[in-house]
Formats: sequence, structure tokens, C-alpha cells
Amino acid sequence: MTSHETVLIVDFGSQFTQLLARRVRALAVFCEITTPKDALAEARAKGAKAIILSGGPSSVYDPGAPSVERDILQIGIPVLGVCYGMQFIFKELGGTVAPSNEREYGRAEMRVRGGAGAAGALLEGVAPVSTVWMSHGDKCEKLPAGFKALAQSDSCPFAAAADVKRKIYTVQFHPEVTHTAEGQKILRNFLFRIAGFSGDYTVPDFVESSVAAIRERVGDGAVVMGLSGGVDSSVAAVLIHRAIGRRLHCVFVDNGLLRLGEREQVEKTFAGAFEVDLHTVDASAGFLNKLKGVVDPERKRKIIGGEFIEVFAEAARKFKDARFLGQGTLYPDVIESVSVFGGPTAKIKSHHNVGGLPADLKFELIEPLRMCFKDEVRAIGRAIGLPAEIIERQPFPGPGLAVRCPGVVTAERLDLLRRADAIVTNEIEASGLHRDLWQYFAVLLPVQSVGVMGDGRTYEAVCSLRVVRSDDGMTADWAQLPHALLGKIASRIVNEVRGINRVLLDITSKPPGTIEWE
Ligand code: XMP
Repeated sequence: MTSHETVLIVDFGSQFTQLLARRVRALAVFCEITTPKDALAEARAKGAKAIILSGGPSSVYDPGAPSVERDILQIGIPVLGVCYGMQFIFKELGGTVAPSNEREYGRAEMRVRGGAGAAGALLEGVAPVSTVWMSHGDKCEKLPAGFKALAQSDSCPFAAAADVKRKIYTVQFHPEVTHTAEGQKILRNFLFRIAGFSGDYTVPDFVESSVAAIRERVGDGAVVMGLSGGVDSSVAAVLIHRAIGRRLHCVFVDNGLLRLGEREQVEKTFAGAFEVDLHTVDASAGFLNKLKGVVDPERKRKIIGGEFIEVFAEAARKFKDARFLGQGTLYPDVIESVSVFGGPTAKIKSHHNVGGLPADLKFELIEPLRMCFKDEVRAIGRAIGLPAEIIERQPFPGPGLAVRCPGVVTAERLDLLRRADAIVTNEIEASGLHRDLWQYFAVLLPVQSVGVMGDGRTYEAVCSLRVVRSDDGMTADWAQLPHALLGKIASRIVNEVRGINRVLLDITSKPPGTIEWE
């Protein structure tokens, strides 16, 4: 494994610490996040080329407020203190930090001292006046000896300040959030101009180091993993497979609630192209049996979740050599980051996870994507050669088509839904419009309507199109597709799927609607 120039991010507990890491990675610089307690030792052990002290919710005056050993400011490595990180530096080096009961939260105007260019390397190229994002309580009021103000805002005399000689830089705002207009430029200046990074850490480097780390951790052991065919578990599986080959045992549960051709695609990609040890369990009869007559959405979800755990556990038990469980957990799934006061604590998705596994099945988790965001996972997926159909796949809920089939879930209804859904997918992808869409699918309603076909009267099912734009699934707008495309989808469904004679368009945004119907 090649070693990379490293920036160490010391996590003082800010909700933005991972975002900071992501911005650093976007500049092709390798970073690691560490706790304040381990910071100095890690900086030395890893030969860090720069240190970033993150923001955090505490006041530097709180009893037990997180701190790092002062030596970290004296070993000559460039340091950037962000928000709490800045206040910590001011307090340690003899400046003044005024306690405050009020938080300043939101956009502020930053004015660079003496106009552009005069503020030195950190703010080089930054507009004389620009928007920054503030979120702080205490405020830095008097500079430590050797420091110079670089910029100010209405409320902060030192929006940015530095001791250039000691290479210690501080900003009161958050350069990592997108509301800070010049944030990425400031991070770039710090890393490239001040700390001298070369910016050569690429996605293939991430793949290489994560494969090496998995190999080292698993040793000659084995890993079992549930594969859903979604992008996260797929990318995680390929990384683990690269590390340990066929000592990775993947289990794919066909719950009978999958989309058209989904199982075949997973088999073709993983067992075929990647030669992964893939075990498909056809459990559809069991799932459908348990769902018989069930209409309540929450009961459906519970039944499906419970059955999944049972089927997966039974399959996993067969791999007696497996001590590890692979998971495609991403950072947004990790509710709490590395905690300031303790070790890493994490909650993981409640579906497809280890949480509900029976007590006799004890695994250690392998989560190669724990630090990653979705767009990074897609880039990794591309680098390791996963096909576009998997990398660009829309999110698909764990309970599958059952939550797109209000009313009872039967093999016949699922078949109708599956065929209508395939037409929606085909047409929207053929139009190219899917690149701007979050999800596009069909929902089969528990309603029959009258129609005419040829000379005859029909009395058949109704389906709805659900097409939304979204950034993260938390909120969504219904997508305004061209009428010609909508018309084509509707006429294809009614003509090609016998059993559906009417197509509706769902024009509800989230909130108040949810994206899925159940
Ligand atoms: P809702 O319907 O709550 O969905 O607006 C938001 C996003 O989450 C997806 N979703 C799920 N994903 N397991 C998942 O992995 C689930 O049980 C689940 N339920 C909803 C949904 O497709 C949308 O992208």
C-alpha cells in the first residue's frame, strides 16, 4: 500500500466534520478523522502534513470542553482551526474568547482586510466581500500574540486570522458548507498553497487503500454479506471481493418483491462478471405467504423485515468460517459520528442489517464505505468497473414492490405492477430525462375502473406514475415530464399490460406526501 500525504481532521463534534472530510477528498487530498485525545499521537505516527481542527457544539469554557495537546500547535505542521477549532487556538495561545449565550447562525458577509490580495495565502483569490456561513456561540475578541486579522464580518472582528510564521490559520465560519461562497477556495489555499499538498489522491487510491485495509483486518477469515443489488451493497461487495476473493460469501434474497429482471441482473453481474461466491435464496413463496391478506403498510414492512432476517440468518449460518459481516453502510446512515467524548458510536439502517440478527449469530462489521457519501460511492463504483445499470440505479426500498402495491400483495398483482414499472423505467431512461430524477416508478392501486378496448368493456386495475426530483429523499418535488412522454408511457401500459386499463399521474410533493405510497 502506498502511503499518501495526509491531512488529519480533529473532530471536536461538529455536525459538519464529515462534510469537511468530503471537501478535502474532493480536492484529491487524503484525510483521516481522529478524536482530540488521539490527535497528537496520530499526527506524529501518520506524519500528517497538515491538521484541521473542526468546529464543535461546546464552548471553550465548558467544563470538560474537548481539547488537544498544545504541542499540536507547536510541531510546525500547518494548522487550520474552524469555528470551535479557532476558539480553542485563541484560548490556548493567549487571545481572548468572549463567552456568549447567543448563537450566531446563518449567512454573514465577510470582508477581506485591506482588499483582495492583502490577506495572504489563505484568502488569496477570495472576493473582497463574500458570503460565509456562521454557526457559533463564543466569539474571538483579542488576537493571540503573533496573529493578524485577515477578514472581518459585522459581528466578528476576526472572521479569519492567522499567525503566518507559525503557520496557524483560523476561520470563525464554516468553509465546508456550500453556503460559504468561497469555502472550497479557502480550503484549497490552505492545503495547496500553505501546506503544500500535491492533490494526487484519487479514487483508485481510495480503492487500493480500502482493499488493503480489508485484507489486513479479515486476515485468512471470511465475510458473509447480504447483497441487495443496490449501489451501496454492490460497491462494498466488490471492494471486499477484491480483498479476499471467494472468501466473501454473498447472499441475495429473492423476496418475490423485486423489479423485472432484477435478480437476473444481480446474478449476471456478481456471479458472472465478478465471479463472486453468490448464493441466491429464492424465498418468494415464504414472503408472499406471510403477506397473504395483509393490507396495513406498517404490518407489511414488519413482516418483510422479519422474514428477511430469518432467511438471511439461515443462509449466513451455513458459512461457518465467516466471522465478519459486510455492509454497504454510508456516512449518512451513520447517525452519530466519531464522538468527542467516547469512541465511535454508530447506528445503522434498520433494514438489511445486523441489528436484528439472532443472538447466536455474532459478527464483526466490515463497512468499507462508512466514510463516504453517495456521489463518492458512485465514483468508486465506476472505478471498480461496476456496470452503469447498478451505479446509476434509483433507490429501491427494502420492502420492495410490496409498498408500491397498496392493498393485498399477491403474485398476480405483483406481476401487473412489475410489467407496468418496467415500461415506466424503459421509457424514462430512453428519454434521457432520468439523469435529473431521483425516482420513477409505477404504483398499482387497489381500484378497478371501467374502460373500453376494441368492442368490449373492461373492468381492470388502475396504476399511478410516481416520478420525483430530490437531492436526498428527505424532500421531493413531483417532476414535470413532457406530456408526449407521459402519453407514451400511459398508452404502452394500457396496451401491453392486460389487467391495467387506466394510468394516473401522482402530482404530490414531499412533504406532505411521501415518495413511496406506503
Ligand atoms: P419516503 O417514502 O419515506 O422515502 O418518502 C424516502 C426515500 O427512502 C426510500 N425508502 C426506503 N429505503 N428501505 C430503504 O432502503 C425502506 O424501507 C425504505 N422506505 C422508503 C424511498 O424509496 C425514497 O427514496
